[in-house]
Amino acid sequence: MSDSLTLKPIGFIRTGKRVKFQALHQPAEGEVETNVLELLPGLNFEQALQDLAGFERVWLLWWFHRNETWRPLVMPPRGPARRRGVFATRSPHRPNPLGMTPVRLLGVKGRTLVLGACDLVDGTPVFDVKPYVPAYDSFPGAKAGWIEEVDTVVNAPALFTVDFSEQAELQARWLRETHGVDFTARLVELLSRDPTPHRTRRIRKRKSGAFEIGCGAWRAEFAVGGQAVTVRALETGYPLRFLTREGYEDIPDRDAQMAFLARWPEILPTGDDEKRLKAE
Ligand SMILES: C[S@@+](CC[C@H](N)C(=O)[O-])C[C@H]1O[C@@H](n2cnc3c(N)ncnc32)[C@H](O)[C@@H]1O
Repeated sequence: MSDSLTLKPIGFIRTGKRVKFQALHQPAEGEVETNVLELLPGLNFEQALQDLAGFERVWLLWWFHRNETWRPLVMPPRGPARRRGVFATRSPHRPNPLGMTPVRLLGVKGRTLVLGACDLVDGTPVFDVKPYVPAYDSFPGAKAGWIEEVDTVVNAPALFTVDFSEQAELQARWLRETHGVDFTARLVELLSRDPTPHRTRRIRKRKSGAFEIGCGAWRAEFAVGGQAVTVRALETGYPLRFLTREGYEDIPDRDAQMAFLARWPEILPTGDDEKRLKAE
């Protein structure tokens, strides 16, 4: 038997999420979202979809096509900065980067599946669709190892207070009032839980000694003293040379980021942006 197998996608999903950080870690039930999976033509997939419409949910089996590497130990985004064996996680960095997601099935029309919330980026290749069968696929009482421990920590009251400097307040107000952008609630939520450096949570220590955190398409610089976090300044997630680059027109909040940089020009050099943005 050959040591490699060839799989061909049955289709590519359209989710409108261009960058990885726009996709959720797992689909959230509360999210009102419509995604479309159009299966490829000429392969009798219309027939293959027969009888699926009666299922409320389907499994999507897909490929983390934006990842090129895998790691035996990975750092999950939630909980303490601790590495776990990749097979004990849902990390995208796997030897065979296969993803599996249960999604709500909203409709089937010809070769097209209309789906609810999912965690796939736009254009992700999908290899298979299977019905979700509660009697086979659901074991609500099953133990969930380290995830149960982490849930206890994550659900505990926040440990850090978060304040904004005058500059950060001004920037937040400006973004809200001129562009309707407001990521401060998410920022406070992330920092109040745990502001320590963490690769997957996009928290890093800068050469200057200050810290930075990525929050969607934006960033913030902050300092920590005891249990108090001070957000010093808000920043764009992308440097100007990316925002103006051809092919990057659909970066989230692109116009707001360009206007922000016109108002608060970036401080160059911006370090290893290429590497960081590829990872995100
Ligand atoms: C934590 S994984 C879980 C995926 C799946 N539900 C599973 O358990 O196998 C979800 C994350 O994968 C990333 N992602 C989504 N589509 C991807 C793709 N095509 N290539 C690489 N990463 C992707 C996004 O950052 C998303 O938040």
